[in-house]
Amino acid sequence: MTKYGSFPGARPRRLRTTPAMRRMVAEHRLHPADLILPAFVREGAAEPVPISAMPGVVQHTRDTLRKAAVEAVDAGVAGIMLFGVPEDAKKDAAGTAGTDPDGILQVAIRDVKAEVGDDLVIMSDLCLDEYTDHGHCGVLDAEGRVDNDATLERYAEMAQVQADAGVHVVGPSGMMDGQVGVIRDALDQTGHEDVSVLAYTAKYSSAFYGPFREAVGSSLQGDRKTYQQDPANLRESMRELALDLEEGADMVMVKPALPYLDVLAKVADAVDVPVAAYQISGEYAMIEAAAEKGWIDRDKAILEALTGIKRAGADMILTYWATEVARGL
Ligand code: PBG
Repeated sequence: MTKYGSFPGARPRRLRTTPAMRRMVAEHRLHPADLILPAFVREGAAEPVPISAMPGVVQHTRDTLRKAAVEAVDAGVAGIMLFGVPEDAKKDAAGTAGTDPDGILQVAIRDVKAEVGDDLVIMSDLCLDEYTDHGHCGVLDAEGRVDNDATLERYAEMAQVQADAGVHVVGPSGMMDGQVGVIRDALDQTGHEDVSVLAYTAKYSSAFYGPFREAVGSSLQGDRKTYQQDPANLRESMRELALDLEEGADMVMVKPALPYLDVLAKVADAVDVPVAAYQISGEYAMIEAAAEKGWIDRDKAILEALTGIKRAGADMILTYWATEVARGL
């Protein structure tokens, strides 16, 4: 055989020759049990309310939430993360509806539990922003700043009412210092030692939460920069991680996902607890919007984004596409 110049000795392309070959050597693959469905339920809604910046996502009624939970179970989805949307008139400075045993989130937890029992891991957002009239994740002091320790007391009460309603996992998302420890104590002292804490360990102050604010009907005054992390920081997430683990976090989360894959990879490398990533509202909106314009192949882009998040180290992914993707896998 005539040899022309020097040929490569190694040919990685051999392992890419056929779909079967590529499937065999795939290093990561998505499974329905990797996925967690975030879902919104709106108090008093007679019909589901579409969220304009998140086409395909709605604020559920109590009834349609139950149906969505059943569909998630049927598709093999691992869990559901519930967000309550109270009536506007019930919002106040302290976020009282968040600790009302008959508040919308507590009602939703009981509904889903009654519908699917333990077939789905039922999780709840533990944060005040859905319930406060100023839209912040905590209560404010006299100067209008978010008061860390006063907020912790509210979080402890929230943990108890959510656990009383039957939730399996609480997800504190407010980025207050000490929140995991206070919540763990509150759960233990009220007989809920089996309820887990999914700590939002690295939660960045992100422009990509935009559509979520519509989803929960929040009109935030100001921004969250004094409590959520600066996108410029990576090392700081390792400090947050150490604190959350010390305070008793059972699982940790990085959020958003796509612009923070380096954070996710570093966190996943460092821990021996399960790691979650939240593909948030803006990540959803970007792909849906580009697809609607015909600029991107929607289904391929969704799978690529989710696979990338898994490759970076996520054991679990919260995604608004959970049920759809799980069905297709
Ligand atoms: C706070 C919370 C937010 C999200 C989840 N929990 C919003 C925020 O921090 O401003 C965002 C989720 C998303 O954008 O999909 N309760």
